[in-house]
Amino acid sequence: MSVHKETKKITTHTLQEMKDRGEKIAMLTSYDFSMATIVDDAGIDVILVGDSASNVMAGHETTLPITLDQMIYHASSVVRAAKRALVVVDLPFGSYQGNSIEALNSAIRIMKESGAHAVKLEGGSEVRESIERIVTAGIPVMGHLGLTPQSIYKFGTYTVRAKEEAEAQKLKEDVQVLQEAGCFSIVLEKIPAQLGKAVSQSLRIPTIGIGAGPDCDGQVLVINDMIGLTKGFRPRFLRQYLDLYAEINGAVQAYIRDVKAVDFPNEKEQY
Ligand code: KIV
Repeated sequence: MSVHKETKKITTHTLQEMKDRGEKIAMLTSYDFSMATIVDDAGIDVILVGDSASNVMAGHETTLPITLDQMIYHASSVVRAAKRALVVVDLPFGSYQGNSIEALNSAIRIMKESGAHAVKLEGGSEVRESIERIVTAGIPVMGHLGLTPQSIYKFGTYTVRAKEEAEAQKLKEDVQVLQEAGCFSIVLEKIPAQLGKAVSQSLRIPTIGIGAGPDCDGQVLVINDMIGLTKGFRPRFLRQYLDLYAEINGAVQAYIRDVKAVDFPNEKEQY
């Protein structure tokens, strides 16, 4: 049963009101209709159709290979399920870095072809013009700073970002740039908790943390990690609420046993 009886839709304004009254924002990823139905029914505030689909749906090592067409496919499946949550969709690598016109065209395709409510893109001052252009077209934009997986080959590792003063200072400046450019919210990924707190307090708009401490205005996790579907992925920031890998593995083994033993289908399971 849903924890939210009302079906009032969450908007970017709702998220701002939540920050203003100190209510935390709960965000999870989803990539398909079935999972998004469960997540939305449970009362999540924001569903992110993350480019982590490249990892958890398609089995790629990084988020770089997923295409705009593939993101639109995932997003339209999620939008059909979401009755209440705000649906935010990642602009994939290569769909916005060229220039602000390319960024706007990609954002328009996502909004038009999937019916989503907002887009997310990675980066700081270097994507300012793109954010301004997308926001001017009436499309809400969520920023993403700290560990930005689309730049993994520049960083070299997935370790915590902005531990050094210079990088922390740059992040503090970048969040202000994104807020000024018109972002309605910013994801902060894998940064020290103290920095997550300082940055969240310095901003009018809400921050959503993943490995960025408890003082962000909201939290996000990749659903497949959070329910234990991702085999062997246990980063420190992850709280795993289920072990679905083991559950499903056990169910599949039981099914195989039943088929081999001609125990399935039984009399009640046939016509
Ligand atoms: O792609 C994704 O799932 C994300 C979250 C980790 C924030 O960007």
